[in-house]
Amino acid sequence: MRDGLGLAGIRVLNNAPIPTWFGVGGPAEVLASPATAAELQQCLRAHPGAKILGDGANLLVADAGVRGLVIDLSDRNRGELSNWREISGASTDHTVIEAGAAVHIFKLINATAELGLSGLENLAGIPATVGGAIAMNAGGKFGSMADVVLEVDCVHRGTGELRTLAASDCDFGYRHSCFSLGASVIVRARLRLLRHTAEQVKAKYKEVSAYKLSTQPMSASSAGCMFKNPTLVCARAAELGVSITAAAAAAGALRVSAGLLIDRAGCKGLRLGTASVSDQHGNFLTADKQGRADDVHALALEVSRRVAARFGITLEREVVMWGFDSAL
Ligand code: EPU
Repeated sequence: MRDGLGLAGIRVLNNAPIPTWFGVGGPAEVLASPATAAELQQCLRAHPGAKILGDGANLLVADAGVRGLVIDLSDRNRGELSNWREISGASTDHTVIEAGAAVHIFKLINATAELGLSGLENLAGIPATVGGAIAMNAGGKFGSMADVVLEVDCVHRGTGELRTLAASDCDFGYRHSCFSLGASVIVRARLRLLRHTAEQVKAKYKEVSAYKLSTQPMSASSAGCMFKNPTLVCARAAELGVSITAAAAAAGALRVSAGLLIDRAGCKGLRLGTASVSDQHGNFLTADKQGRADDVHALALEVSRRVAARFGITLEREVVMWGFDSAL
């Protein structure tokens, strides 16, 4: 399989499992683990359409798996893209760190908290690699990844060219960046963190983690929220009993929890085969051990159908899906 694939010198596995937080789904036909930015460029020049695997935290892979090349940029990839370092220590109020795409965000949050560097603790409890968190602009109530990004080095899929984008050129939005469309693949990023004390950062870390634990099924096999929170005009949101902040009133619209809508549509606890909707948070779909990705997919379709029938609202998928034909 290696010959003729343009992957000479790169660690490659055939028919390799794709680890995801759902814990279900089939293998990659070919899985490459580039150890350096140059190897990642080589992979993308040869396979511009390759799929990128981060922590598998926001990913559902079909039971049949995926054809073609998957590039492993998870923290199992032990190359230079799994390293991070502080690159500017001169300022008293902030610093800049540079982190490879494959660095796990939990490790980075822990390490920076120990150093009293603040910013990433707001993402506590959100599993991701640095690359995945930037691509999805991962986040929640306490902040999102874009809040700390200064610059991103990325490889253009078509040309294999390495370029640097300033945060203002990354098109960051709600769970979105230019990288979620996939024209370029993140290699590493420079992040701006504030200098606080380790005690302060750890206290915030605990607060964010406690909120997540009390509202979400953190130990279940899931990909976090399945759907994005839809934007509703204030009058519609008010009908649903959602409180309207001054900022939302001024904007005329706000994002309403998809979990709340799924809950109100009576879907909590709904089960289809080996997949179910969490009893704790409606937007978390979970898979049984040895479960089937196709059940998770069918359940997501059913949930979105019920929300549409009950409220006339079309939910947009947040979880990335590989290998499924039907649009969701
Ligand atoms: N709610 C319900 N029923 C539910 C879920 C929520 O009534 O089943 C209500 C809650 O009681 C609360 C409101 O909806 O009044 C908002 O709930 P929550 O604070 O849990 O936030 P969310 O809007 O549902 C978002 C993000 C989460 C993030 C949390 C907390 C999205 C799609 N979801 O959820 O992100 O963790 O805020 O910051 O943006 C993810 O993206 O994977 C994710 C989990």
